Amino acid sequence: MAVSDEQIRSKIVDRLGRVDSVLDVGCGNCDLVRFLAQHVTKEAVGIDINGSVAHETVHSEADDSLHTAECRRMDAQQMNEFADACFDAAISVHALHEVAQPERAVREIRRVLKDGGVLFVADFTEGETRWDEDYFTPEQLTESLRRAHFQAIDVEKVPGEHFMFASATK
Ligand SMILES: C[S@@+](CC[C@H](N)C(=O)[O-])C[C@H]1O[C@@H](n2cnc3c(N)ncnc32)[C@H](O)[C@@H]1O
Repeated sequence: MAVSDEQIRSKIVDRLGRVDSVLDVGCGNCDLVRFLAQHVTKEAVGIDINGSVAHETVHSEADDSLHTAECRRMDAQQMNEFADACFDAAISVHALHEVAQPERAVREIRRVLKDGGVLFVADFTEGETRWDEDYFTPEQLTESLRRAHFQAIDVEKVPGEHFMFASATK
């Protein structure tokens, strides 16, 4: 069994609700950024050190209006193009473990979040062997978030899976 994209998307909708702006860190092919613009936010921005570049308007059925989905090339460890406190929420899916210095990325994410903004993380945990990569344990992720001064840290290991969902608040 594996945690499906549908399960991850459903969790994101549950945890974020509806907000005006969301940052997707390590967005890859930009698909999830389009989903965010359709279902969660008016403005979805993805960044990835290697990923797709896009700037699109998408129709949101949620409020029957046009929202934006934008993906840029950027290093999560140094998001200089973004001002402090410019996003309502941030997500990172299957990506934080790939960042060379994830604690720097976590600090940068906190910097660009508004006060009270939520970070949602979905990622594999230690023990997952499919891609021969190193993953955090839930305890390590909790500690990184704590050291970056996030609050209301909630890390949930998915039963029977090497996978976790986490959320934390600036
Ligand atoms: C396994 S992919 C996941 C992509 C997408 N989030 C998904 O779930 O399909 C991990 C992504 O993290 C990106 N990445 C790795 N290091 C990064 C960094 N320092 N800054 C931004 N993105 C990074 C990679 O380029 C890659 O696209």
